[in-house]
Amino acid sequence: MPKDLVWPDEAAAESSATVQVTAPEAPPVDVLRAAFGRYATGVTLVTCLDTRQQPCGLTVNSFSSLSLEPALVLWSLRLRSTQLEAFSAAPHFAVNVLRQEHLALSSQFAGRPAQERFAVGQWSAGLGGAPVLADALASFECALRGWHDEGDHRLFIGQVRRVAQSEGRPLLYHRGAYRRLSADD
Ligand SMILES: Cc1cc2nc3c(=O)[nH]c(=O)nc-3n(C[C@H](O)[C@H](O)[C@H](O)COP(=O)(O)O)c2cc1C
Repeated sequence: MPKDLVWPDEAAAESSATVQVTAPEAPPVDVLRAAFGRYATGVTLVTCLDTRQQPCGLTVNSFSSLSLEPALVLWSLRLRSTQLEAFSAAPHFAVNVLRQEHLALSSQFAGRPAQERFAVGQWSAGLGGAPVLADALASFECALRGWHDEGDHRLFIGQVRRVAQSEGRPLLYHRGAYRRLSADD
């Protein structure tokens, strides 16, 4: 079984050691990546239709709520992504929040070639045709408000036009591995 399909030993992931790096200029990338990874997130699949009406999507944990009034969300995409053009041109995108049962789906959307990703999961066409996952923990169907390049990523901002949610446990990501809430959470 691939390493990212098993739950890590949560006790082994705990560490009390403090590593401090002070860098007046750019911190080393590996140090920065490790520090960013201490910030636990949920996991989403962000989707759209490209200009040929083909579904596009990838696993994203940079998703964040931005504003309540108006209802805005944001996420960022690597500038080197094969899907940069598609998401920049699509008038709508959908953010599908994954549940812990979706670990394999998350791996599929992070690791498989773009044209194979939608072979797994139950999808329907949302606003502007952006694919919506039937059993997502929550989904946000958005109109693209705009995008902005910073560093090596493009930041997308969307206005939420339709929202859905249901009960369940989220898929989490922390220190480079998938996690789940403990039994008593
Ligand atoms: C948990 C997780 C979160 C990710 N979050 C992002 C993200 O926020 N932005 C991004 O550009 N890539 C992110 N990735 C990487 C993409 O899912 C992966 O590189 C994917 O293959 C990109 O599709 P592309 O090859 O068509 O660009 C994430 C991967 C994982 C496993």
